[in-house]
Amino acid sequence: MFTLRGPGPGGGNLKHAWAERSFDRVIQLGQYGVHFVASPPDLASLKARADDPDTLRRIIERTQWDGLIILDTKSDIEALTLNALHAADRIVLPVADWASLEEAGKLYAILERSDRATRARVLLTLVDARTRVEDPRQDLRAVLEAEIGRRGWARYASYLSRSPRVEALNSGHGRPLSILHHAQGTIVHRQMRAFAHEVLVDLGLGGVGSPRLEEPADEFPLDRLGSVGGWKSALLRGLRGR
Ligand SMILES: Nc1ncnc2c1ncn2[C@@H]1O[C@H](COP(=O)(O)OP(=O)(O)OP(=O)(O)O)[C@@H](O)[C@H]1O
Ligand SMILES: [Mg+2]
Repeated sequence: MFTLRGPGPGGGNLKHAWAERSFDRVIQLGQYGVHFVASPPDLASLKARADDPDTLRRIIERTQWDGLIILDTKSDIEALTLNALHAADRIVLPVADWASLEEAGKLYAILERSDRATRARVLLTLVDARTRVEDPRQDLRAVLEAEIGRRGWARYASYLSRSPRVEALNSGHGRPLSILHHAQGTIVHRQMRAFAHEVLVDLGLGGVGSPRLEEPADEFPLDRLGSVGGWKSALLRGLRGR
């Protein structure tokens, strides 16, 4: 989705970064001005070298990079996911239904063992106001929110709705298209923007007002992200720039 070069070899990928213990050589500028590190074609051999869950954290610390880093994981909790959990200041747990709520619970249990549960935030996703549960007056979102509150988990106030238009962006073309550029005017576009803003506020990087979280945010190492104003304006440039 991000590559400007098209598919094929060239540049390094996450496997090279792992070997070199630095992302410096493998960061590429991609679509939408987003820099990215390509995933390797053979993930299995990298997983075999990811036994130490603090490897990724150390690689990021050694990399000269002045910005937010997003680690996109698979939903199964294997060696690379554990590395991402150990490296992250914030962990976003998407919850769409009871099954994903239970999955989030497994992750919480793991995070609690290493004292990282305060870094986790639930994000409700694929919300469909038409989905009713047994009580016809209650929709699924209200029920999930109540359960998340009962479990004492922190949750972002923003949520993402289910949208046929967004679904088509991923399945209707050879290459996935971004919500930012190809779903303007939709509710999910606005929700993504609101979510980005809420995350920035949560990280202490900008915005006005306080995040409506169930729990106070733990302190965030601002020094790792450079100047607040710089980041806010860079993000806004990204949102406006087309
Ligand atoms: N708001 C939405 N409305 C409708 N469909 C959506 C929405 N968000 C995502 N989808 C669809 O759901 C599918 C999975 O989305 P996505 O890749 O974001 O999930 P994921 O959990 O990251 O999956 P994976 O584990 O494969 O990485 C995609 O086909 C996408 O088009
Ligand atoms: Mg994914």
